[in-house]
Amino acid sequence: MKAAILIGGQGTRLRPFTLESPKPLLPVLNRPFLEYQFRVLKAHGVREAVLCVSYRAEDCKRAFGDGRRLGLKVSYVRESLPLGTGGAVKNAERLLGRGTALILNGDVLNAFDIRAFLRFHRAKRVEISIALTRVKDPTLYGLVLTDMEGYVRRFLEKPSWDEVESNTINAGAYLFEPSVFSHIPAGKTYSLERGLFPERLAAGAKLGGWVAPGYWIDIGTVEKYLQVHLDLIEGRTPFAPGPGAKLLRNAEGAKVSAGPGVKVAPFARFSGAVSLGRGVRIGKGAQLSDCVVLDGAEIGDGARLERCIVGARARVGTHATLGPGTALAGGSRVGDYSQL
Ligand code: GDD
Ligand code: MG
Repeated sequence: MKAAILIGGQGTRLRPFTLESPKPLLPVLNRPFLEYQFRVLKAHGVREAVLCVSYRAEDCKRAFGDGRRLGLKVSYVRESLPLGTGGAVKNAERLLGRGTALILNGDVLNAFDIRAFLRFHRAKRVEISIALTRVKDPTLYGLVLTDMEGYVRRFLEKPSWDEVESNTINAGAYLFEPSVFSHIPAGKTYSLERGLFPERLAAGAKLGGWVAPGYWIDIGTVEKYLQVHLDLIEGRTPFAPGPGAKLLRNAEGAKVSAGPGVKVAPFARFSGAVSLGRGVRIGKGAQLSDCVVLDGAEIGDGARLERCIVGARARVGTHATLGPGTALAGGSRVGDYSQL
């Protein structure tokens, strides 16, 4: 089976980090984010992926190339202007061939059993199946209501709270029969979630809804991008960190992932889960709790960081304080004693 992966969005909710890098290339424990999902594909026998690129397309091509390094065959379809999730998938139609295709949102990490999903899809004899997951706040996602037999009753993108009737949402993974493509307009902006799914349901088509057990996260916001680091470090996922990232545990029980070339000065203190990218420097007596410091950043002596992300090559001055939710852009400077 072949997969199409949607990675053309601008990642506006993940600025400032997505100003320098498309979402799928953002580093997570020393590995581009999308490489974790590539591992899931390979583990379930998917060997070919079509990447639907648009925003910073060249960066994506440079990073993944033809996929050989990753043990996959990777090809690309590019929209010069983003055409939405539907328009992007339609572009991949020819490259996906004649079989059932797996379609994935590229900002999701989902340790799911693709073969079990396919068995469900075949058993239900549907042209579209949607993988589902359960979340606390469905208003941020696509709400999917199913009946007792696993057929979709309703698909509602970004519902308001008074419309939330369940906690099952679209996990951003679908199985499409080739016939589905005839319902997607070519060369036009079109959404799978606001267009295709509700329209197919209204036309009386049967869609399957399969609850995918296992770890699931969409890294689309700063909070979630931080969270995926903490989950990997704390062992809440089945994934191992990327090459060269070592997981260390200190005397206070904190877990630290350190990339190559990290330098930590004496008396620095860590608590919770902390990710240090390659070449990061931590000053004397700095205190870091549940945070992420990206490649080449420097944290000054006595600085205090809590639940925040420091962008690549940023400099945090001595005794500066970065509080929860701070997202420091790559290359920025924070003065000594500043409080953010
Ligand atoms: N090529 C291309 N072109 N890709 C796109 C485009 C486009 O115009 N628009 C979005 N994408 C890609 C994004 O890069 C991302 O990987 C994926 O499609 C989903 O877009 P998001 O912008 O992240 O959507 P979302 O998170 O608000 O909602 C989607 O994902 C949820 C699960 O994480 C929807 O599919 C929801 O229904 C779903 O619950
Ligand atoms: Mg998303």
